[in-house]
Amino acid sequence: MAVGIFDSGLGGLTVLDAITRRLPDLPLVYYGDNAHAPYGVRDAEDIFRLTTAGVSRLFDAGCRLVVLACNTASAAALRRMQETWVPRDRRVLGVFVPLIEALTERNWGDNSPPREVAVKHVALFATPATVASRAFQRELAFRAIGVDVESQACGGLVDAIEEGDMILAETLVRAHVDALRRKMPAPDAAVLGCTHYPLVEGAFREALGPSVRVLSQPSLVAESLADYLRRRPEMVGGGEGVRFLTTGRPARVSDRATQFLRRPIAFEAA
Ligand code: DGL
Repeated sequence: MAVGIFDSGLGGLTVLDAITRRLPDLPLVYYGDNAHAPYGVRDAEDIFRLTTAGVSRLFDAGCRLVVLACNTASAAALRRMQETWVPRDRRVLGVFVPLIEALTERNWGDNSPPREVAVKHVALFATPATVASRAFQRELAFRAIGVDVESQACGGLVDAIEEGDMILAETLVRAHVDALRRKMPAPDAAVLGCTHYPLVEGAFREALGPSVRVLSQPSLVAESLADYLRRRPEMVGGGEGVRFLTTGRPARVSDRATQFLRRPIAFEAA
């Protein structure tokens, strides 16, 4: 028994890393669907099918609670999963809500009506599927009024990161920030709305400049999970340590993961 962490590939490792720092004793099972990444260019039906297959595998591994450490799956599949698919004794949480709660200066789980907030102009960088879903704007509208959001679909960026081509990834970041600035010249805050993007957070910060606050999703998700587990300790389950599962080639995925997290990571076949 453990908490499951799901992503289309390597991006969810940024969330896993923040969770292990915040909750070092929490048993975890990570599932990367590397064979089918990227999800961001797929349609909602496909994302639902792949996400439910991965989450089922995590349930089979003993997880009662799964965090979708993937904005694309959270945006395109989570609501349908919660309404039609998740068994009554299991829980699946997404990564949007903690980010938006932090952006709108709320306590975790505060569902009070929308109100005016300090931030006015938000740049959202995300995958094409996340941008098309408008899920970020929908969740934001439940919590804040008068916030202008401009989105940039960062085509190619997840592929470059999955391939480990960081030079191409950083070039793409600069091009996408330039494209965003043509639509919104002076954002107050930028949301890296894909869990792969913290792996190139330095390039985003440099391209955006010091006047733009960059929201880091992994640490926010870890804080909000710690709060959730304090309220729902029965969702932790037993077990110990961290297991890593992939639908891709374990040796190759382990090499990339070790490069990104700068510690040895050994994936096994899902
Ligand atoms: N890391 C993911 C996200 O947060 C998925 C990206 C993809 O597979 O395109 O959106």
